[in-house]
Amino acid sequence: MSKGKNILIGITGGIAAYKICELIRLFKKNGANVKVTATPNALHFVTELTLDTLSQEQVYTEQFNTADKKPEHIALCDWADVFLIAPASANTIGKIANGLCDNLLTSLACAFQKQLFIAPAMNTGMYNNPAVQKNIEALKTAGAVIIEPDSGFLACGTSGVGRLSDINKIYNCVEKYFQSNMPLQGKRVVVTAGGTKENIDPVRYIGNYSSGKMGTAVADAAARLGADVTLVKTFDLSRSYETIDVKSAQEMLQAVEKEFLQKNADILIMTAAVADYRPEKCADLKIKKENNETLTIKLVKNPDILKEMSEKKSSNQQVIGFCAESNNLLEYAKAKIQKKGCDYIIANDISSKDTGFSSDYNEVFIINKNLQVTKIDKDTKQNIAMKIMELLYGKN
Ligand SMILES: Cc1cc2nc3c(=O)[nH]c(=O)nc-3n(C[C@H](O)[C@H](O)[C@H](O)COP(=O)(O)O)c2cc1C
Repeated sequence: MSKGKNILIGITGGIAAYKICELIRLFKKNGANVKVTATPNALHFVTELTLDTLSQEQVYTEQFNTADKKPEHIALCDWADVFLIAPASANTIGKIANGLCDNLLTSLACAFQKQLFIAPAMNTGMYNNPAVQKNIEALKTAGAVIIEPDSGFLACGTSGVGRLSDINKIYNCVEKYFQSNMPLQGKRVVVTAGGTKENIDPVRYIGNYSSGKMGTAVADAAARLGADVTLVKTFDLSRSYETIDVKSAQEMLQAVEKEFLQKNADILIMTAAVADYRPEKCADLKIKKENNETLTIKLVKNPDILKEMSEKKSSNQQVIGFCAESNNLLEYAKAKIQKKGCDYIIANDISSKDTGFSSDYNEVFIINKNLQVTKIDKDTKQNIAMKIMELLYGKN
């Protein structure tokens, strides 16, 4: 069940660090995407080269690397579905339990809002130390899953509790979490994303500023919740789930008819910005400037995909629309859900610079058929998408 999931593995400075090489292989073998972060002390026990090679990714150790304009502890938090710290040293457990962030791994743990797994491993004396036990209890209370250490022969030559839990047990614990958090398992979800392009001539089109980021985030979230996803999109993107490329509203309609109606998918989520109008005719040859001071292009109405699908869907299918407005957001959104007849409208305000179209952030309102409104506060588009899906379809 971790197939296709993003697993962030955090390694700290404990002798059991070498065992994590095998754990990385196990996740990778079963189709998970793995990234590794390690404390500077962890690298005394296992080399960056080994971890790079096994995860097929660079190992993240540097707190102050902002090459992609987003601090690593934010970018990795957005990326990961779960964060597994194994082995978790007494030192790092203490820091995380008390909100200290003096390296990348502890900063990640502090910022991480999804499921944190902690597999402690240490000498029996350290493990039984009341301060360590208090810190472990604090992490449990905060919602972390503690993967209890085993008892047995320890690297320090003594016997007792503190040995890193068996690698297969750690793996199964994460697997079980994913299995019980898949409310969309067995459901087919079609998502549209991006702005349509309506051809004027072979080299020009009428388009809009939709980046497709929100739609991609929604499709990713649906896949993470177990859905069988098809993303109908107007931009370049590769994903592990099915994607279909379209350009115009008419092409998008054809793809949606096939994927949602004919194949009887369960849910259609229309995040795409579909042009309301298209040129009546697309010129066969490039239109020349010549001596024309003005150029008139007659536009005709495009199909209303959201309305059409809402009318044609069967009672066990759901249609969700997105509504981007620059003013009177809730008023227009409520009118839209009534006019289109869809099950939900997700409304967002595109007038604000730091949310909406090309931004990485959004703030949305979910409106249901009874016109009840639920607000999701400003967050990354990935987190907003997951919150939307969890609110509509729940966690198991
Ligand atoms: C050989 C050796 C083995 C160690 N094994 C462990 C261990 O298994 N668990 C632990 O909590 N600390 C262990 N330590 C101590 C940690 O490395 C030390 O507390 C360090 O500060 C942890 O740093 P980190 O939490 O930032 O990775 C070990 C130290 C050495 C030298």
